[in-house]
Amino acid sequence: MAKDRLSKLKQEFNGEPADLIPVLQRVQKADGYLSRDAIARVSRWLKVSEHELYGVATFYAQFRFTTPGRHHIKACLGTACHVQGGEQMLDVLQRRLDIKPGETTDDGEYDLERVACLGCCALAPVVTIDEKTYGQMSVLKLQRSLDERENIESAS
Ligand code: FES
Repeated sequence: MAKDRLSKLKQEFNGEPADLIPVLQRVQKADGYLSRDAIARVSRWLKVSEHELYGVATFYAQFRFTTPGRHHIKACLGTACHVQGGEQMLDVLQRRLDIKPGETTDDGEYDLERVACLGCCALAPVVTIDEKTYGQMSVLKLQRSLDERENIESAS
């Protein structure tokens, strides 16, 4: 996190421990993730230990600690998607990409996010890859969609 960004945040927030979540949200929005450097700086500023800060940040699925991938995959586990097999979709993605939610593949190609609702519950279970929505997914359909993407990317 750049020093000038921290200076800007210091003008907007009181610098109290209660500011932690909104400050982390702002940092992540700007940087795409929470770097170790950003965590150290926010920790010193808000007088919250890094241990506590990690404890809070890891509680919320929205925060990530690695650089974003070139392609962003969201697996919905909201109620409608959960009931329709969303956990299975997440499981397929985790095994296939060998990452957990909040992580990025070693080649920097994909990152994975677990979300609470993508706003299209009638299509449950839903997975998005970048801007494309894949609805009424099954394990087979998801595997095929990933295969197609890999084939397109390896051909280009
Ligand atoms: S619960 Fe998955 S799209 Fe709404």
